[in-house]
Amino acid sequence: MKYNSKHVPVTDLKTPCLIVGVHERHRASTAFDTLDQASGGLLRRILRKGDFHGRTGETLMLYQVEGIAAARIVLLGLGRQKDFSALTFGEALRKATPALKQANIGSLAICLPDDEDGYALVREAIAGIEAAVYRFDECKSEVEKPRKPLRQATFVTDDRRHLKRLQKACAHGQAIANGARLARDLGNLPGNICTPTYLAEQAHKLARGQRKLKVTVLEEKDMEKLGMGALLSVSRGSRQPAKLIVMEYRGGKRGSKPVALVGKGLTFDAGGISIKPAQAMDEMKYDMCGGASVFGTLAACLELDLPINVVGVVPASENLPDGNANKPGDIVTTMSGQTVEVLNTDAEGRLILCDALTYTERFEPAAVIDIATLTGACIIALGHHASGLMANDDRLAEEITRAGEAANDRVWRLPLWDDYQKQLDSNFADMANIGGRAAGTITAACFLSRFTKSFKWAHLDIAGTAWVSGNDKGATGRPVPLLTQFLMKRCKVTD
Ligand code: BES
Ligand code: MN
Ligand code: ZN
Repeated sequence: MKYNSKHVPVTDLKTPCLIVGVHERHRASTAFDTLDQASGGLLRRILRKGDFHGRTGETLMLYQVEGIAAARIVLLGLGRQKDFSALTFGEALRKATPALKQANIGSLAICLPDDEDGYALVREAIAGIEAAVYRFDECKSEVEKPRKPLRQATFVTDDRRHLKRLQKACAHGQAIANGARLARDLGNLPGNICTPTYLAEQAHKLARGQRKLKVTVLEEKDMEKLGMGALLSVSRGSRQPAKLIVMEYRGGKRGSKPVALVGKGLTFDAGGISIKPAQAMDEMKYDMCGGASVFGTLAACLELDLPINVVGVVPASENLPDGNANKPGDIVTTMSGQTVEVLNTDAEGRLILCDALTYTERFEPAAVIDIATLTGACIIALGHHASGLMANDDRLAEEITRAGEAANDRVWRLPLWDDYQKQLDSNFADMANIGGRAAGTITAACFLSRFTKSFKWAHLDIAGTAWVSGNDKGATGRPVPLLTQFLMKRCKVTD
């Protein structure tokens, strides 16, 4: 979808479909009143019939309303006026979009509810519509194509002074949505297509024709030279070679320190010799969603031409059982020199991330954020609403928390106290790769913290937020909105 904004009297706008919000108890907006007057009071008369309640996302489509240039008017329920926020607006549009897609409409116009600043309204509206129009049918042999696919939406304002900020909101919302779509597509691809090699190719594809993005892919022999014994130990059990994908986005000043995003790119996690149960194991194709979010965020940086330097690092590997795979009890030496006893081969994410984090030191990053579907325990702790956040720097943690709130892609911080570190003690190596059942999300972060001492670092555990299970199974694209918001704010492109 494409988005823009326009300053025009709502009654004169030529569009196949004009959407105007109505709250419960029929409290309406200036735009609604204007349209009602132009229609000779028709809209109010229809509301008085009582069929339309104004519940969030409810729709009523009207045709050929006299006095109004639009071919259709859609009344859109916005819920109770006192509870209304940009989030409700996004939710209403998300719920209404399937009905709009059913109609033979290629473009929409959307009246903005009365609000001092429509920026947040537009951002959430785009997020809501995009969430609803997303389809993943790359792997279906036959797809039903609508006669006229929905392609375009225009936000209408009656105040010229708002136009500039609304255009900005469109650009930001669009770039975030495109980045999230890339992350979703990569996540939804099955493990037999989306291999480490495929991800590396996608990185090259992202950089094609882009002056500001440089991609380097380290092969297993390069990793051997660097001493990445932990990462390589995971990929040893797989026939697909591991890749360490490095993407350098140079939008900022020369020499200004980059933000590093390190994303777990485990393209299929069977658990290795500590094999997982069969139930829902297919969902372990999503174990590269952290890496996918790095791709999506860099795509948004490119689209917005953000004036900032960002390095994306994605260790990509499979985790499978095999005669050559890690065995419980094996001891591996990481790039940092620290040794690890692999007590559970299913705790592989931290093994590939620790070497990627050590590698990241060479960029002298201003801050490092790693993103990983790291622990099932995080789903137990926070469910599917918030990603887990752990950090060695309070200001960075706050910055990320605020970005998550602004982008409606929230995180919740868990402690990283030293008390938890001793759960990683090993009798035979510097540390074990598991810390027992208690606080599994925190001990996983404790493990990573031993490789992040030289920089400001935050860890996002997205095990509960990267995809949804059940009938609507699919990747969410999170936390691309949070990460993009974080970067936009860092380089003062948004406030
Ligand atoms: N990729 C999984 C974590 C995961 C599991 C995310 C289910 C989302 C849903 C990770 O590699 C893993 O297997 N973690 C283990 C760690 C344990 C062995 C300490 C887990 O969470 O069970
Ligand atoms: Mn695992
Ligand atoms: Zn995993």
